[in-house]
Amino acid sequence: MPRIVPSVLPANFARLGTECRALQDAGADRIQWDVMDGRFVPNLTMGPDIIAAARAEVQLEFEAHLMVEEPDRMLPRWVEAGCGLVIVHVEACRHLHRTLARVRDLGARAGVALNPATPLCAISNVLDLVDLVLVMTVDPGFGGQCYLSSMEPKISSARAFLATTEREIELEVDGGIGRTTITGAARAGATTFCAGSALFTQRTSFTTEIAELRRLAMVADAGMGRAA
Ligand code: DX5
Repeated sequence: MPRIVPSVLPANFARLGTECRALQDAGADRIQWDVMDGRFVPNLTMGPDIIAAARAEVQLEFEAHLMVEEPDRMLPRWVEAGCGLVIVHVEACRHLHRTLARVRDLGARAGVALNPATPLCAISNVLDLVDLVLVMTVDPGFGGQCYLSSMEPKISSARAFLATTEREIELEVDGGIGRTTITGAARAGATTFCAGSALFTQRTSFTTEIAELRRLAMVADAGMGRAA
């Protein structure tokens, strides 16, 4: 079953707890917190205290997408804030193997994100430490950007690459995912879809939008002969 993971980057930051509850009630599979430090990416967003404040509002798993330089410096804080999944960028880690091992030692699942220009081979030696691969379909830093369909061959290669391991590794895409782009990403092999603007800018309800995105991904999977 495809997973829909709303990003709260476009949410009303004055009502994050309410927005998280609405997303949970609407059938979201997880919630993504886009952490940006103004160095790894130009934007600056939120810290662990904001995530912790929303933690008690919902039961959904939180994933921290760390678009930050030197993520090791604050790793424990994201887990203490209630994130069960911590995603670091290959490009921001001087010692990626050690960083991923530390995430797991802290009791969280470890994700690794690849910017559009970063090849899959950058993670070929750390798959034993990875629970999720996040293929960016935009250059990170802002919501509402255009989906890069040029990433679809990379998504397909990632799917084939992850199939060579015995481990269950999720393949998530993030950036410009919506009704007109999710089919391409799903056909390419993504199984988890992070969406921000598509959920917060539509006139439809979260429930309608999440259900429609999931339906489109399932139809795409079926079209590729993949079980639901
Ligand atoms: C990178 C961020 C965004 C966010 C989703 O800048 O990671 O991709 O999660 O934003 P949308 O869905 O609006 O592209």
